[in-house]
Amino acid sequence: MNSIPSPAFILEEALLKRNLETIQRVMQQADVQVILALKGFALWKSFPLVRKYLNGATASSLNELKLCNEYIGKKAHTYAPVYSREEFEEIAEHSSHITFNSLTQLQQFEKLCAKHSVSVGLRVNPGYSEVSTDLYNPCSPNSRLGIPAAELAQGLPKPVKGLHFHALCENNSYALEKVLAAFEERFGHLLAQVEWVNMGGGHLITEQNYDVEHLISILKAFKEKHNVQVILEPGGAIAWQTGVLKSTVLDIVNYGATPTAILDVSFAAHMPDTLEMPYRPFVRGASRETIDGWHAYRLGGGSCLAGDFLEAYYFPEKLNVGDSIVFEDMMHYTMVKTTMFNGVKHPSIYIIQQSGTVECVRDFTYADYKNRLS
Ligand SMILES: Cc1ncc(COP(=O)(O)O)c(C=O)c1O
Repeated sequence: MNSIPSPAFILEEALLKRNLETIQRVMQQADVQVILALKGFALWKSFPLVRKYLNGATASSLNELKLCNEYIGKKAHTYAPVYSREEFEEIAEHSSHITFNSLTQLQQFEKLCAKHSVSVGLRVNPGYSEVSTDLYNPCSPNSRLGIPAAELAQGLPKPVKGLHFHALCENNSYALEKVLAAFEERFGHLLAQVEWVNMGGGHLITEQNYDVEHLISILKAFKEKHNVQVILEPGGAIAWQTGVLKSTVLDIVNYGATPTAILDVSFAAHMPDTLEMPYRPFVRGASRETIDGWHAYRLGGGSCLAGDFLEAYYFPEKLNVGDSIVFEDMMHYTMVKTTMFNGVKHPSIYIIQQSGTVECVRDFTYADYKNRLS
């Protein structure tokens, strides 16, 4: 870690393998398919390992679909809230499954799905979730995601072979159990007509307190009861706690009650969920709570956005320019969301391989910034 220049996202392959092994246990013991949600983790240099374990990937855009085809080596399970006419033929050609968010989109594209032998699904809204932040809650009132039960009162249109719901966000198996109960209550009568049920993402299977045995038991019970293939599409759980974002203190300013350590990374550009969700990431060696005798520092991002900072963290020693600040658990929903806002330097991407070899898999330059615009 010390030899890696800052700023850098650093994936530890051995930790990714550990997660994939846990997920493989679920796949084998519950006899379900698990696919990677690329929206959460798309570090494709690590896909040679990922594809050894998982059944494939789920794409939510043409770009993700192409990445799936190229680096997972399979046709994608595709779901997007909306598809355009211009892109759909290509999407259908390279997808094994396509899920629609409305009956009108199904009608518009069902012939192209038939032409390319795509298994067609509908996303439904189970009407129950345990996600408290509205930004991440697909089942909030008036959500645009998922068909409400009332719209399917006439039953399922003929081409539909599967149902899809996504109602979780970093939840446990007990939340899934309640979502399943709500799903069965609203859509159970349709299950005899389908071959598969995709239970979306948000299953934090690799978190240390996750009750994997309970998950296996509810998935087995659901399969036995309804005689359907079950698919899970987690993103965050695949890359959960598999790596860090290493940064460096470039300056310390004392303009307020608490000194601010200004870093060579940006929360807005490199860790947007820390501002959007918002959440406070763990910082290696620091405390998020005050401790007697420890030193408080706000952590400031290097962009000009006024709100690009995190409230105080507490360090056992005073910080100095040049010190490393290592943010934990920075592999999921970071690299996929980063921007070059403000022209800030984009962190490089490193992989520490299982052998211990450290590989720089990506370095960003002025050309990357320039080529996004013209
Ligand atoms: C439809 C769908 N599937 C899967 C996922 C992946 O969820 P997570 O990364 O929380 O497992 C998401 C995340 O937003 C999603 O919208």
